[in-house]
Amino acid sequence: MRIIVAEDYKEMSKTAADMMASQIILKPDSVLGLATGGTPMGFYKELVNLYKQGKFSFKEVKTFNLDEYYGLDKRNLQSYHYYMMENLFKHIDIDLENVNIPDGTAKDIDEECRAYEDKIRKAGGIHMQLLGIGINGHIGFNEPDVKFEAITHLVNLDEETIEANSRFFSSIEEVPRSAISMGIKTIMHSKKILLLAAGSEKAQVIERMINGPITPELPASILQLHPDVTLIVDKEAGDKFD
Ligand code: PGA
Repeated sequence: MRIIVAEDYKEMSKTAADMMASQIILKPDSVLGLATGGTPMGFYKELVNLYKQGKFSFKEVKTFNLDEYYGLDKRNLQSYHYYMMENLFKHIDIDLENVNIPDGTAKDIDEECRAYEDKIRKAGGIHMQLLGIGINGHIGFNEPDVKFEAITHLVNLDEETIEANSRFFSSIEEVPRSAISMGIKTIMHSKKILLLAAGSEKAQVIERMINGPITPELPASILQLHPDVTLIVDKEAGDKFD
């Protein structure tokens, strides 16, 4: 695992955006895996800035998001569809036909999950996957005690995740209790992984992910086995490991 400790949140975001921009410059038809949440917001801002400098285009890029809340419509302000439009897609020249996010309102969720996995495979797999990490060690919405062999599936969210994500909703009751998420196996098949973490509340989980045992109790620990992971943390999140 390559580890970059950035001076602050802005530098973390810029470093990650530079890496993704380089991926697109080197391979304009890249398949990108994208993440949502508080952490990557700065990253998307920096990536849009680089795009606006005219150095590359998203015209041939395909994207697959990690997850979507179960039951939230695309137009819901808390949906990850909405988040992605606001933070990235409306600012760039991507063909929306090439954008993929699980449909949390699909009638047949099992079929939606199967079809999603199939689309990733048909696109040739993910070249670069962006990840955040939950304070409980989740990646995507793969919560502790996950099955490492899982592919895209419906997951029940942990109390800790519901609590952490309630900051984006007007009340905790509004946070969906389940979501569609790429599985650990899907994530592990990506060629390159970029994991971002910022703030002191992530320091402990980052230390356990790097130095602790590989265990389903800390889903992100499986990344120790991936051949090409770059972890970019700010100073606070990088405070607890040597
Ligand atoms: P956050 O979420 O970026 O909002 O902290 C990360 C995650 O839950 O994966």
